[in-house]
Amino acid sequence: MPLYDGDGVMITVLGATGFTGRLVVEELRRRRLPVRLAGRNADKLEALVEDLGERVPTMVADVTRPETLPPTLEGTRVLINCVGPFTDLGEPVVAAAVRQGVHYLDTTGEQAFIKLVFDRYGDQARRREIVVAPGAAFEYALADAAAEVAGRELEPCEEVIIVYAISGFGASRGTKKSVLRVMTGEGYLYREGRLVRAGLGAVRRSVHMPGGQKLVALSFPGGEVIHVPQHVETRSVIPMMAFSSGRALLLPLGLSLLRAAMIAPLREWIFRRIEAGPVGPSPETRAATRFTLLVEARRGEDRRAVIAEGCDPYGLTAVVIVALAAHLLEEGPREVGALSPAMIAGPEAIIDSTGAAGVRWLR
Ligand SMILES: NC(=O)c1ccc[n+]([C@@H]2O[C@H](COP(=O)([O-])OP(=O)(O)OC[C@H]3O[C@@H](n4cnc5c(N)ncnc54)[C@H](OP(=O)(O)O)[C@@H]3O)[C@@H](O)[C@H]2O)c1
Repeated sequence: MPLYDGDGVMITVLGATGFTGRLVVEELRRRRLPVRLAGRNADKLEALVEDLGERVPTMVADVTRPETLPPTLEGTRVLINCVGPFTDLGEPVVAAAVRQGVHYLDTTGEQAFIKLVFDRYGDQARRREIVVAPGAAFEYALADAAAEVAGRELEPCEEVIIVYAISGFGASRGTKKSVLRVMTGEGYLYREGRLVRAGLGAVRRSVHMPGGQKLVALSFPGGEVIHVPQHVETRSVIPMMAFSSGRALLLPLGLSLLRAAMIAPLREWIFRRIEAGPVGPSPETRAATRFTLLVEARRGEDRRAVIAEGCDPYGLTAVVIVALAAHLLEEGPREVGALSPAMIAGPEAIIDSTGAAGVRWLR
């Protein structure tokens, strides 16, 4: 089947020319799904089509000019939005998708944006009978799926903790900008059945990772705080990043420096430096980026853990979001409204698709 057969419905990728967008387009092509490429730069779109070597429809759309979005969404059943930082650029896109009755998925790692989508667009999406699912990427789809599997037998859980240990990570330009947004903004944890404001590192735990490594885990405002309570009965959700004890000691200092640097005009300078840097990690760096994800649900003394180990978070982002888009395109939604990634097609869809892509799941 050609990538686009001239009629029928499509998956449109907005931000197709970006680092992550390109990987998503490649994965759609690998799966022979009908795709349209959208972005703000016609020349870059043309270059991308040339690289693909097949006829693929394109559409110029700039999210800062919302009038360019409706034509892009025509004939689209599922929109995959890869344009970040989402806190700055995402809302017009999700609003247009909801208005036009198009399923919406994105790659955001920004909790504030995930919360905004659930708060402002959940009811509208339900009325339009569509799915809006922010954060359907490496972060936070794998942890969301693991939380449901770990929590299943223990519900109501007292706590779900999520620990990421990542080594050798090379960030894309887009990730660097979004991480600055997350690290310098405010965030939430889910504690005692409600969202509570918490700065980075508000919760600190000593964790034993699989293989016996002892690390220090510091909480961060992950999207799981919004996602997991939607489908797992639990009183607390705490996402954490694990570090060696030395790094954990230095982290607060690094963060204070970063916050101080986020005042204009230093902020503009930092963003210009990011723009001048490489678009993203090389294939070698991607392959050398290793992660262990430990998700543990607890009720009293009972604990259930699910572990995922693998490499290449960017490649896995493409695998996961395309698997979820394919499900919406081919089978339609199981439920509608604002959904976490695991609610779209069940946790197994995420576990199976990433398992086929090399992730080792232990449960
Ligand atoms: N949660 C996760 O695990 C995960 C994984 C991967 C990525 N992400 C997130 O995904 C986002 C994208 O990352 P990336 O590495 O792909 O960034 P990137 O390479 O900088 O790509 C950004 C894309 O957005 C486009 N864009 C920027 N402003 C636009 C506008 N006004 N209108 C239309 N398009 C616009 C860019 O177009 P041009 O090409 O014309 O500049 C480019 O295609 C980031 O927020 C990142 O944090 C998250």
